[in-house]
Amino acid sequence: MSGNPYPLGLRLAGRRVVVVGGGTVATRRVPALLDAGAHVLLVAPELTPALRAHADAGRLHWAPRRFAPDDLDGAWLVQVAVDDPLAAASVSAAAAERRIFCVRADDRAAATAWTPAVTRHGPVTVAVLGGGDPRRAMAVRDAIRALLDVRKGTLLTPVVEEGSLPCTGGGRVALVGAGPGDPELITVKGWRLLTEADVVVADRLVPGLLLDELRADVELVDASKIPYGPSRAQEEINRILVDRALAGKFVVRLKGGDPYVFGRGGEELLACAAAGVPVTVVPGVTSSIAAPAAAGIPVTHRGVAHEFTVVSGHVAPDSPASLVHWDALAGLRGTLVVLMGLKNLAAITATLIAHGRPEQTPAAVVQEATTGAQRVLRSTLGAVAADVLAAGLRPPAVVVVGDVVDALRTSVGD
Ligand SMILES: C[S@@+](CC[C@H](N)C(=O)[O-])C[C@H]1O[C@@H](n2cnc3c(N)ncnc32)[C@H](O)[C@@H]1O
Repeated sequence: MSGNPYPLGLRLAGRRVVVVGGGTVATRRVPALLDAGAHVLLVAPELTPALRAHADAGRLHWAPRRFAPDDLDGAWLVQVAVDDPLAAASVSAAAAERRIFCVRADDRAAATAWTPAVTRHGPVTVAVLGGGDPRRAMAVRDAIRALLDVRKGTLLTPVVEEGSLPCTGGGRVALVGAGPGDPELITVKGWRLLTEADVVVADRLVPGLLLDELRADVELVDASKIPYGPSRAQEEINRILVDRALAGKFVVRLKGGDPYVFGRGGEELLACAAAGVPVTVVPGVTSSIAAPAAAGIPVTHRGVAHEFTVVSGHVAPDSPASLVHWDALAGLRGTLVVLMGLKNLAAITATLIAHGRPEQTPAAVVQEATTGAQRVLRSTLGAVAADVLAAGLRPPAVVVVGDVVDALRTSVGD
């Protein structure tokens, strides 16, 4: 085949695409077809487990046999992902007869369409063809991706998130989980929205390095410096989010961990919704799981714990304001993760022991997890409160109670 390829963006939603082959090439190609909304017919006697999972979930139709030419009836595109050149050629021939474009993983020269190397940035898709050399295409794609990562704030800004409606003036809010402390633990989507923001309203526990990388013209509001008590401060934060969005700004509310885990994200969402401001919520890596993980503690472990429970310890167990059924928690065998629990730790551990959790249950405290200042203390339920005081641990810290605390110690020699 000669001549330059003619680039197109195929709109495959609701259209039949046939994939022939059920191995690793098909495993890599099928997700993008599904993402495009194609009706995928997969023809292959055997499937990889990943493809099998798509078939089992009803995301595609699997024909568990070899290819037959009439598989292509009604198809708009066919992808051949088999090693056998004769089998691939027979699909090509059937496709050519029906004037259907045919992508060949085994033989680019015999294909009538090529798949480009792709990088996706929200709604923007960059596709690169390397003149028949896939490695060149990938190298150029990687260079463009790196450029967009650096400049995406300016290049890709005019975006309205899927699922959100623009309010008058185009303003909107994103509630973004920043992760537990390590700046690399923000999600890709969270990071992208952060680089697009006009205003960032940040919490105390948000990794400082994320803020360091904001564009110079971004208005940064430090929510921890709002000079009122907790409830007035929250009202003030809600007001800032709504006012800036109604003024046409894209506001990122950046919160430590996950916005909905003791993060007051729900209140902020309701305040925005009441004012007609569209909101996108981007979940974050929560410290309730990440802090134990950073200390080598899995919150579940086969044969050790089949459940984990996350509670806030900011209200003492005997306080009328407590919403936690501590007596019931004492009866659980699994993992208990307590956030904001240092101040009340002595009362919490005493309550758990009084209601039946054995004193010798392993316990650990992880302070400033995933940061350079991380500290880990290992103890038991009976001794942990005194050990925390003796070691001078302070918030932010997560307390973990349960046999998982020791689950990996023997195997990793920790
Ligand atoms: C108001 S809650 C917010 C939790 C957050 N939304 C999350 O999902 O991680 C604050 C508490 O989270 C825990 N926490 C947050 N970051 C932490 C970290 N890096 N290390 C240990 N604990 C952390 C502490 O218990 C802290 O008191």
